[in-house]
Amino acid sequence: MPLVTSTEMFKKAYAGGYAVGAFNVNNMEIVQGITEACKEEKAPVILQVSKGARAYANHTYLVKLVEAAVIECPEIPIVLHLDHGPDFETCKACIDGGFTSVMIDASSKPFEENIEITKKVVEYAHDHGVVVEAELGTLAGIEDDVKVAAHAASYTRPEEVEEFVSKTGCDSLAIAIGTSHGAYKFTPEQCTRNEKGILVPPPLRFDVLEEVSKRLPGFPIVLHGSSSVPQEYVKMVNEHGGKMPDAVGIPEEQLRKAATLSVCKINIDSDLRLTMTGTIRQFFDEHPDKFDPREYLKPARANIKETVRHKLRDVLGCAGKA
Ligand code: G3H
Ligand code: 13P
Ligand code: ZN
Repeated sequence: MPLVTSTEMFKKAYAGGYAVGAFNVNNMEIVQGITEACKEEKAPVILQVSKGARAYANHTYLVKLVEAAVIECPEIPIVLHLDHGPDFETCKACIDGGFTSVMIDASSKPFEENIEITKKVVEYAHDHGVVVEAELGTLAGIEDDVKVAAHAASYTRPEEVEEFVSKTGCDSLAIAIGTSHGAYKFTPEQCTRNEKGILVPPPLRFDVLEEVSKRLPGFPIVLHGSSSVPQEYVKMVNEHGGKMPDAVGIPEEQLRKAATLSVCKINIDSDLRLTMTGTIRQFFDEHPDKFDPREYLKPARANIKETVRHKLRDVLGCAGKA
């Protein structure tokens, strides 16, 4: 099947109590690792491209890599989505250039301005058969070049969501309930430590999610910053020359719970980066004589596939839902 929008995907996910994985793609091995797992697990998938990915790999290369995945995986629905579109022009370039979904992220702007920019993107996107994700609230962490300190982050205000959605006409809404971008989602001071000394982050604000869902019945909600930062990969990085002290993510069981509620799209990037980096660091450490990139990219791709498989089956609940 050709690239699809997320409309049907989200309807089924909402009704079925699961979420679709939205994984960031930057190169061929990442596209292959994700889509091979989704194909084997019969899972729908959103492949998302950030402004940084477009700057790194070039729009055309990324679109063509995703089109290749569509040819290789005809049995699963695939969405090509712009992640954190910073402005109307970037969204327009992606809508004109083959994407089936875009995010306009004007969440750092005042409420009225966020509505105005989002509405403009929605009008253009809908005229071209493309769907739009918008955002209300501010996540902590790093996205593209922007770093938002934990104290500057703010939860979504449920009392704003109905007006925002009805005035903009957006198709899905990203909200801030305590997730955060990157591999250092919380400072040690925000966490407690378990018996192994591993940081335990503060719980997600399910009360905010439930209030938003009550006000927007049936409307798909999106969670950004939802990597779990698997400690086995943090250990692998640290044991092979890396230095990632106190890297911490969102506990998987909280994401699983969110997926059974109104959350239909869960964004994961850092866990794939960590998987790739840990695997390559270990390979370099164990094989200092090797220099063929295929030899270290092959296990990295294989481990990305296994990380994604685990998400589909055990976190998102979307295995078998294609
Ligand atoms: O939300 C941010 C994503 O992880 C994309 O990161 O902007 O470094 O490509 P990036
Ligand atoms: P993570 O950094 O938690 O993987 O979040 C990715 C994301 O939200 C992409 O938009
Ligand atoms: Zn994000």
